[in-house]
Formats: sequence, C-alpha cells, structure tokens
Amino acid sequence: MSRLITNTEVIDFIRNAFNEPKEFIPLHAPHFGGNEKKYVLETIESTFVSSVGAYVTRFEEMMKDITGAKYVIATVNGTTALHLALIMAGVQRDELVITQSLTFVATANAIAHAGAEPVFVDVDRDTMGLSPEALKTYLENSTYQKDGQNYSKVSHKRVAAILPMHTFGHPVRIESLIEIADQYNLPVIEDAAESLGSYVENQHTGTFGKIGTFSFNGNKTVTCGGGGALITNDEAIGLRAKHVSTTAKKAHPYLFFHDEVGYNYRMPNLNAALACAQLEQLQEFLKGKRALTEKYIEFFKDSNIEFKTEPVGTKSNYWLNAIQLNNIQERDAFLKDTNGNGVMTRPIWTLMSKLPMYQNCEKDNLENSEWLEERIVNLPSSYTK
Ligand SMILES: Cc1ncc(COP(=O)(O)O)c(C=O)c1O
Repeated sequence: MSRLITNTEVIDFIRNAFNEPKEFIPLHAPHFGGNEKKYVLETIESTFVSSVGAYVTRFEEMMKDITGAKYVIATVNGTTALHLALIMAGVQRDELVITQSLTFVATANAIAHAGAEPVFVDVDRDTMGLSPEALKTYLENSTYQKDGQNYSKVSHKRVAAILPMHTFGHPVRIESLIEIADQYNLPVIEDAAESLGSYVENQHTGTFGKIGTFSFNGNKTVTCGGGGALITNDEAIGLRAKHVSTTAKKAHPYLFFHDEVGYNYRMPNLNAALACAQLEQLQEFLKGKRALTEKYIEFFKDSNIEFKTEPVGTKSNYWLNAIQLNNIQERDAFLKDTNGNGVMTRPIWTLMSKLPMYQNCEKDNLENSEWLEERIVNLPSSYTK
C-alpha cells in the first residue's frame, strides 16, 4: 500500500526545503547573484540601452554555445519569438498550426497573431507534451493531401506547421514528432520557452525542429525581465529572422529603407545585459534546481501523490516541479491548503480549447489533456543556494 501524505506534511516539507518557516514561498522567484548590477550599470553608462549593443550580440553568442544552434536572434519576449518563428516557417493567414491544448496561452496566441488558427491535438500523460500517436492519428484521419500539401477535412484549410511545447522543462517526444512531421513534409517549431537547459540524449531542446524559441520572462530559469530568443540551424531563416525583427531595415549608414513589413521585436541591450549575467549562472541554477527536485522525489517516493519526473532518455531543467493528484477534488483541496498557508502552488493551465477565443478551434478528443488538467499542480521551484 502506498504511503499517505497529508497536505500539512507537504507544506511542512516545502517550508523546510526552502528554510522558510513562516514567510510566503513563491512558485518561482528570480535569483540575481552574479554580474547583473555591473552589466546593467555598464549599459546605462554606455547609453546603448536599446536594441543595438554589445550585450545583445554577447547574449546571442552565449545562447549559441548553450544550445549548439548556429543562429540565435534575441527578441523582446518569448511570444514574439514564437510569432517570428511561425512567419519564418511560412505560416500564412487562415492556415492551421497543430499544437497542444495543454500549454500556456502564449503558444496559441502566437498562432493567432500570425493570423492562423490552432488545431489542438492530445498530449502524452508522462511528458505532458504533444503525443506522437495523437499527431499521427490526426494527420491520418483528419487531413487529406493535395499537390503535396495537407488540408483539414473539416475546414479545408492548409496545415502549415506543428508546434509542440516542452512542458515545465520536460522534453516532449520530439524525435518521434519530427519523424511523423517529415512524412507529411511539415515544419516543426519547438516552443522551448520553459526548457532552457533541457536535453534529449545530449542535444538541447529547441534544436530538433526547424526553429526553436525561448522565453526569459521573470518566472523562468534564467530571466532578463522580459526577453526571448529564436534559434535555428537554417541560414536563410536565421538571416531573415534578424532582418524582419529589426523593422526589415536595409543596412545603410544613414538612409531609412525597409523592404517589407517588419517588426520591432529585438531585445534591448539593457535586458541583454541582465540576460548575460544570468546565463553565466545557468549551470549553477540547474544544479541547485536539480538538488531541490531530488528532495521532492525522495519525499513523494512510494506515496499517494505522484511526482512528475523527467522522461526516460531526457534531462529536464525541472523549471517547475509538478505533482499529479488523484482527482480534481484532491487537487482543489491541495491548492486551497497550500495557498492558504503561504506556500504558492498553481494548477496546470486551463486547456486552450476551453478559452473563449479558441473554443471553436478544431481538436481531437484531448483525453489525456483533460485528465492532466484535473490533476497536475506545480510546487515552489525557485533556485536556492
Ligand atoms: C510555453 C510558453 N510559451 C511561450 C511563453 C511566452 O513567453 P513570454 O512570456 O516571454 O512572452 C511562455 C512563458 O511565458 C511559455 O511558458
């Protein structure tokens, strides 16, 4: 029989793990323990606070080293990186992009920003990310091919791309997804917003698909207040993404000439300064976060509460630790008890397919997404020394 853990025991355990007997414990607080102030001050003194500056270049070089990608374009946030990625993948107005219903709203919003519509396909219960089986079933049963393109049998709109997300830093079954996508000649964009420092075998998430994107929002493993990045190994995409995100301005010593509708999506130097200082500490953050996760794993071992571990063959950054409760009643009681006692916990997102703006989008049965939606809760996951 499994060991029964009460909510009070969980609260006590978390307070102990964070060495915080009384005060509020957030879900994920940033940690500024390196060169943050020095680099930000330097940037102010240089007066190069906007989108051109040495720290932007340095940030992009650091991201190349970390991910192994050939091209990195720093953006103002993860949502704009995703929007840019969709445009670069050739997604057009009134086309379809296959994604998860179980994701943060930005994934679906970026598709809408590109003028396209999401199609919600189910996730796997272990990875909480897009299911290769569900993707295959959708493409086989719900689309048809014409002139080498795939169209929805429901809307007759073209399926233009596939957009999986690495939930809470746990890598999705990206290799299987790409194998299926290749059979249908569809580009894959990885929403790796949550998975900086997560690997499949030894390859960094975000480098499997045609394009990958990251977020450096305040709640992420590494933050620069607001920031994002698009990564790719495709030279044409890399060069064009930089051009289009810089208002599509042709390089010239003084003339303003823009050769298409561009975007003001580049990360300011001020944010990049913070990002560089944070990236310098990435390995330390990952180590500290893993140490916390190991404590959680030990605590929940053989108990009535399942702790979500990294999928076999992958290395997760454990951005947000997650547990799976047995039903929605247990989940609600857990959320009430923990939040009522100053320990911040959050349920996984409401499915995108239930939000007013996306409720009429095409979807499959979303069986696992709904099952997880009722059970998954995130626990405090901040880096601590
Ligand atoms: C899965 C996912 N996609 C996209 C984003 C968007 O990133 P940002 O908030 O930097 O726009 C986030 C996080 O915020 C996210 O968690």
